Amino acid sequence: MYTLVILISGNGSNLQAIIDAIAQHQWSVKIALVLSDRQTALGLERAKKAGIPTMVLDPSDYISREAYDVALQTTIDKYVPDLVVLAGFMRILGKSFVQHFQGRLINIHPSLLPRHKGLNTHKKVLEAREKEHGATVHLVTEDLDGGPILAQAKLITEPQDTEASLKQRVHRLEHILYPTVIHWFSVGKLVWTGEEVFFEGKKVPVNGILIAE
Ligand code: GRF
Repeated sequence: MYTLVILISGNGSNLQAIIDAIAQHQWSVKIALVLSDRQTALGLERAKKAGIPTMVLDPSDYISREAYDVALQTTIDKYVPDLVVLAGFMRILGKSFVQHFQGRLINIHPSLLPRHKGLNTHKKVLEAREKEHGATVHLVTEDLDGGPILAQAKLITEPQDTEASLKQRVHRLEHILYPTVIHWFSVGKLVWTGEEVFFEGKKVPVNGILIAE
């Protein structure tokens, strides 16, 4: 069984989409643990409802960022995951953590990377009057929101779009994109060779695989 550990900090709508897709399509994918850095994360309730083990590691219980990362890594390792999935996990992970999970640590970001790294992506898209927006799934490296792009889903912005509408529209894309990429990994369609990513035997283009328009 292909095993995931999913890290969240908040709502967990992406987590929900992954739970639902696994159940709906009967994928041979198991979520072994949902871990949050915040006790109040709604996603923890979603996991419990689905019968998935949960855990909270509160950063304030640790003396340093490094100590937290070590605890996080040790905890995750116990579950021997094939893939560690960041789904709205609002912490920057240190070099040693990222290197330890290199090639099996993925994140979803609400923009068409490399455009708009960091926060407030919808606002930035509106301010720049961009015609296209979307979501990206990428491998996590030490370069924040800068790791190799695996896949993207795009939308065309409408004149009446607001930050709220874009957030909702991008979320809808994310809920298709993230489960799809996880499924690709689980069946060996998407492969990390240690240096590059291949999709069905071909090198993934620099902007990733485009899944929807
Ligand atoms: C998503 O927009 C994702 O792109 C970003 O954090 C948000 C998490 O949303 N990394 P949710 O908690 O899955 O609803």
